[in-house]
Amino acid sequence: MAVPEKIKQEVLELRRQIEHHNRLYHSLDAPEIPDADYDALLARLEALEGAHGLATSDSPTQRVGSEPLAKFRQVTHELAMLSLDKVSNEQALQDFDTRIKKRLADEAPLEYSCEPKVDGVAVSLLYEDGLLTRAATRGDGITGEDVTHNVKTIKDVPLRIEAIQKGTRIEVRGEIFLGKKGFASLNARAEREGTKVFVNPRNTAAGAIRQLDSRNTAKIPLQMYCYSVGVTTGFDLPVRLSEIFDTLASWGLPVNPERSTELGIASCQDYCMKLLARRNALEYEIDGAVLKVNDLEIQKQLGQNAKSPRWAMAYKFPAEEKSTKVLDVEFQVGRTGTITPVARLDPVFVGGVTVSNTTLHNMDEISRLGLRIGDSVIVRRAGDVIPKIVRVINAEKNKKPKAIKLPASCPACGSVIEKDGEVLYRCSAGITCPAQRKESIKHFASRAAMDIEGLGDKLVEQLVDEALIESVADIYRLSIEQLASLERMGAKSAENLISAIERSKQTGLPRFLFALGIREVGEATAMSLVNHYGDLLPIISADLESLEQVADVGPIVAQHIRNFFINKDNLKLIADLQKSGIRWPQVETTSTSLALQGQIYVLTGTLERLPRSEAKAKLQALGAKVAGSVSRNTDVVVAGPGAGSKLARAEELGIKIINEGEFLDLIATLSE
Ligand code: IVH
Repeated sequence: MAVPEKIKQEVLELRRQIEHHNRLYHSLDAPEIPDADYDALLARLEALEGAHGLATSDSPTQRVGSEPLAKFRQVTHELAMLSLDKVSNEQALQDFDTRIKKRLADEAPLEYSCEPKVDGVAVSLLYEDGLLTRAATRGDGITGEDVTHNVKTIKDVPLRIEAIQKGTRIEVRGEIFLGKKGFASLNARAEREGTKVFVNPRNTAAGAIRQLDSRNTAKIPLQMYCYSVGVTTGFDLPVRLSEIFDTLASWGLPVNPERSTELGIASCQDYCMKLLARRNALEYEIDGAVLKVNDLEIQKQLGQNAKSPRWAMAYKFPAEEKSTKVLDVEFQVGRTGTITPVARLDPVFVGGVTVSNTTLHNMDEISRLGLRIGDSVIVRRAGDVIPKIVRVINAEKNKKPKAIKLPASCPACGSVIEKDGEVLYRCSAGITCPAQRKESIKHFASRAAMDIEGLGDKLVEQLVDEALIESVADIYRLSIEQLASLERMGAKSAENLISAIERSKQTGLPRFLFALGIREVGEATAMSLVNHYGDLLPIISADLESLEQVADVGPIVAQHIRNFFINKDNLKLIADLQKSGIRWPQVETTSTSLALQGQIYVLTGTLERLPRSEAKAKLQALGAKVAGSVSRNTDVVVAGPGAGSKLARAEELGIKIINEGEFLDLIATLSE
C-alpha cells in the first residue's frame, strides 16, 4: 500500500528537526530542547520509518548504530592521506617559511591557514550526490578501513549535504575526536560502575571509531572538524583553503572556529603562541597548530615529499599527559607537621618540563586513584599547573604491586603521628622535629616572608644538618667564617648572604608575621591582622573574640593564632629576633573599611614596572585578596605581557581585565 503523503512529510520534517537539534547540541553546545523531547522526536521517527518501510541511509535513526560487522572492509584512498612534518620551536617555523619561499623563488610574505592540531583520528568522508556513502580511517595512508557504520553515529557529520548537486563526488578529510567533557563523563561513569577507565580522549576516540559494533560507537560522544578536501568531481571550489573552509561550513560540515588566515610567518608564530596560551580553555585536546599555505596553486607548485606535503607544517606543543611509573612513595613532613605522600616517578618530560616527583596530597587521594608502588600512571601538567597523577593505567600489568602505607611514626623524628581532621595526618612533635624545623626556616627565609636572598632550601638543609642553626633566630647569629667553611660556599657568597641577612632585618610587620609560620596565617591574613591591630603587641595579646573581628579570621584561624602566642617558646623566639635587630615601620590601623575590601584580584603575565610581590602587597593593603587562579569569583585580572591561560579564562568568563598602567593608576588613586 502506498505511504500517505502526510506521513512522508512528517518523516521529512522530523529528520530536519532532529538534525537541527543534533547540530545545536553537538557542534554549538547550545541545546534548545530538553533531552527527553529530543528522544521523543527520535522515537516517533523510528516508529514511522519502521511501520512504513521508510528508513533511508541518511536518516538520523541510523546514528544509533547497527548490527556488528564481521570485519572491516579495506578502502584504498584515491589520493594518499599524507601526514605532516613537525617542528617544536619558533625558529624551525621560520626556517620552514624561508625554505618554501626559496623554493618558490619569491620573497613576498606568504598567506597561511592556521588551525589547531586536534588530537584525534584522521578520517576521510566520501559524499556522492550529496549523500555520505563511505567513511574510512587513514590506515597507512594508502589503505584504510571502512568505518562508515561508526562515522554515521557522529552527530556532527551530516549524512546528506543538501547544498550538493547530483552527479558530484567530494571527499572531505578531518579529525574525529572526543571532547574533554565527553571524556570526563565517560570516565566518571566508568569509575561509578567500576569498569576500566579510559586512558585519554585520543585513545578513546580511536577505539570508538574502530568498533565492529557501531552501537558501541554511538555511546561515545565523538565530534569532528574537517581540515581538507581530497578528490572532487563536478565542483568548482575556491582557490584558497580559507574559502574552502567557509564553503564546507556553509554546507553544514563542521570546521574549526579557531582557524585563522595569517599573512607572513611572524603572524603565524603569534597565532601559535596565542593558541598555546588558550590550550586549556579549549573544549578539546590539541597537540599543536598546523600551518598550511593558503593558496592552492602555490600548494601545487610546492608539491610533496614521500610522506608529507611541503606546503604544511605542524607546530607541536609539549604533551600535557605522559605515562610513567611510580617507583616509590615517600612521606614528607611539612612546616606544621603535616605528613604528605610524594610519589617518586621514573622521570618523564611532560608539559614542557621533566617531572620526577609529584605530591599525592593525602592518603585519600591514594585510595581514590587506587595507586600502588610499581603502577603505571598518567601524569598531567597543563600550563603552569603543578604536575599531578591523574590515573593508574594497566593496573593488572603490575606484577609486584606494593601497597602504600602511612608510616607508623614520623619519618623525620620518629614521634607519634596523629590524625588531624578528615584526611590529614601530622607529626606530634612540633618544632623539635628536624623536618618541621627545616621547613619553618625555609619558610621564614622565603621571598614572601623575610626575603633573605641566597638562603634557599638546599642551604637551609645544609645549615641544619651541620648544626649551624637550629631555629630562625640562629640565622642572625651566623658569621661569614661559619658560612665560608661550608662545602660549595665561597667567601664572596658568604659575604653576600650575610649582607642579605642584615638587609632582611628592615622588614614590614606583615612579612614578619607571615614569616613566623603560624598555622593558616598566609600573607593576606597577616596583612589583615596588621591593618586591624597596627602593631605586634596587641596581636600577641588579642583574645579569640577580638581576633574573630579581623577580616579573614574565623574561629579556627583565631585559635591557631592564640595557640601560637600563648606558647612561651614562640614568645621567646620573637624577643630573640627583635633583639637581633629586626624592625618594621609603624602601621596605621584601618578600622574603616578598605577600598578593595573583599575583592578578588589575579595577577598574570609579567609586570614591568613593579615586582609582583609588591603589586600583591599593595592590593592586600587595600583589603583585596590576591588569588592564584581565575574563577567565577574573580573580580579583576591584572594582565601583563605574556599572560596566558589565566587571561584566556578571564576573557571566557567575562571578568574585568586591566593592564599594568591601569592597575598602577587605580592603586595610586585608592591610596591617596
Ligand atoms: S592536515 C596533508 N590539519 O595530524 C595534511 N591535520 O600528522 C594532512 N591533524 O594525520 C593533515 N588536526 O590526523 C591537518 N588541522 C589539521 C589537523 C590535522 C589534526 C592530524 C591528522 C594528521 C596528523 C598529521
